Amino acid sequence: MRKSSSKSDEILHDIKSPLTSAIISCECLLDLKNRNLNFDSQNVLENLSDIHESLGYIKELVSVAPVGKNKNEEFGVNDAISSVCGNFKKNNFIYRFGNEHFLHGNKLKFKRVICNLFKNSIEAGGKDVWIIVAVKMVDSGRSKESVVIEIKDNGPGIPQGILKDVFKNGFSTKGELNNNCGLGLYICKSIIEKDFGGKITVKSNVGENHGTIFTIRVAPKKQG
Ligand SMILES: Nc1ncnc2c1ncn2[C@@H]1O[C@H](COP(=O)(O)OP(=O)(O)O)[C@@H](O)[C@H]1O
Ligand SMILES: [Mg+2]
Repeated sequence: MRKSSSKSDEILHDIKSPLTSAIISCECLLDLKNRNLNFDSQNVLENLSDIHESLGYIKELVSVAPVGKNKNEEFGVNDAISSVCGNFKKNNFIYRFGNEHFLHGNKLKFKRVICNLFKNSIEAGGKDVWIIVAVKMVDSGRSKESVVIEIKDNGPGIPQGILKDVFKNGFSTKGELNNNCGLGLYICKSIIEKDFGGKITVKSNVGENHGTIFTIRVAPKKQG
């Protein structure tokens, strides 16, 4: 277990994933050039666009970091999730989006949650993992509705014995080399519960039918 995280630990943790993604895109470009491979404009543009997206995301994170203020706004869930997917390899994702549903809250924080979940799926399942992202509106009884977001991967899964620990601050199976480790899901849970008044849960299988599914339930923005 590590000591509890500070706000700056959390921001640093979140900056690492778009930064890694930008570095990978740069390395792809350099690799194409060094090996004189298929250095065509389409390839270059795709990598540049990934780098641009990652740098934009880092800028967003850095710009809120020192102030720590919450900018609440209305935003579309599909739109927010799609913009996070741009930081990762496109063929990892299968989308099951219906109509756009709207939330009210801090969009950047919501994107941090999604980014952390994608990052974990890719770290656990490797670069060829697939991630199914589904968004739907569900009737949660007493004329209340919830926006339900499911993020499901076909990675190795989480053993039942540690499933209850994964949201704890400092819990990680990734070892000491992984700086700021064990923070991602703790941040996700705190954002979903405190900022959005929602819930995040996890189910997972190891062995046959292995994979993990995180489910987020939040109230939609009130109409009118
Ligand atoms: N999609 C996933 N597949 C398998 N294991 C996962 C997944 N997401 C989270 N985990 C497990 O939960 C632990 C905690 O995740 P997290 O809080 O993001 O910290 P970190 O990624 O730094 O280890 C991980 O170390 C891993 O064991
Ligand atoms: Mg993580």
